[in-house]
Amino acid sequence: MKGLILSGGKGTRLYPLTYTRAKQLIPVANKPILVRVIETIRDAGITEIGIVIGDTGPEIREAVGDGSQFGVAVTYIPQDAPRGLAHAVKIARDFLGDDRFVMFLGDNVIQGGISALIRDFAGHTDWNSQIVLTEVEQPERYGVARLNDEGRIVQLIEKPKDPPSNLALVGIYMFDHHIFEATDAIQPSWRNELEITDAIQWLVEHAYMVFPHVHRGWWIDTGEAGELLRANGLVLDELVPEIRGTVDDQSQVDSRVTIEEGAEIINSVIRGPAIIGQNTRIVDSYVGPFSSIYHNVVIENSEIQGSMVLEHSSIRDIPTRIEDSLIGRHAEVTIATLRPKAIKMHLGDHSRLGLL
Ligand code: DAU
Repeated sequence: MKGLILSGGKGTRLYPLTYTRAKQLIPVANKPILVRVIETIRDAGITEIGIVIGDTGPEIREAVGDGSQFGVAVTYIPQDAPRGLAHAVKIARDFLGDDRFVMFLGDNVIQGGISALIRDFAGHTDWNSQIVLTEVEQPERYGVARLNDEGRIVQLIEKPKDPPSNLALVGIYMFDHHIFEATDAIQPSWRNELEITDAIQWLVEHAYMVFPHVHRGWWIDTGEAGELLRANGLVLDELVPEIRGTVDDQSQVDSRVTIEEGAEIINSVIRGPAIIGQNTRIVDSYVGPFSSIYHNVVIENSEIQGSMVLEHSSIRDIPTRIEDSLIGRHAEVTIATLRPKAIKMHLGDHSRLGLL
């Protein structure tokens, strides 16, 4: 089997974090989501992976390279514009050939990996496709499935105004080559995209065997900032802690904290689950549960929890605790201690700041 990861598109819903960065490269618990996806596919035994890339292709190529650092072989498949998930499958045809494959959206994070799913699909050579469904609270934001009493798929519909069920399509799909008949047959949707949901519906209508698997653990489409923080918390909760940096005698670090190489914890308290990135310095500060502080960050004389701070940012002398915040790269958050007192910040376009 082969793997196909979709990492094109535009991350408009995560602005301003994604003005300068592919959304799939944002780190969740200090590891880019795309790397988590590659490792999930590799851990299921698939090492030939195609990655569909768009405008942010150059930085994705730079981060992933030929895939050998992750134990996989990567082929890049450029897409001229985000013309839809089914369009991405269409242009991957040369790479996929007649092989069965798993398609994984490059911004999805799922609990428990996909090894069992891949085994299931590989063991049923008569299945043309397997899709993954999960119960969600706002089905109108996703592709939605209606099943009959026997649990077979009756209808699939993309972002319906009036959802027929609360079963959303998770961004993990398995196909054989018949999917190309479907992607050739369907027309663009109201949002002018070739929808994979419509292609699967076509398979169902043409008597191909499409099986649903209902996923019971957590799953997150990290398309929005709140979802990113939620994914961060859930992944941190499952991280096996490790201390590779240094912690001085004045600091307290509890058992669910990971400290990466070169990080320094000085006169500070870190409560897990949390992760402190490479060469990051935490000085005279408190980092509370569900925080991911990425590489080369400085936090001095401040308190933060439930937040993500990306690389090369600094937080200094902030008198109130920062909570549930997403702080991008090269951001500076500080306060002038001399009169006239003032908060000083460098915020990107569309930033949101909640001052007391
Ligand atoms: O996350 C699950 C949902 O993903 C499903 O429930 C929906 O049925 C499915 O259509 C999809 O919906 P989204 O609107 O969330 O898809 P999005 O545009 O965010 O794209 C998902 C990933 O695919 C993202 O990493 C960008 C990439 N992509 C997207 C498009 C439209 C491409 O590589 N090429 C594209 O043309």
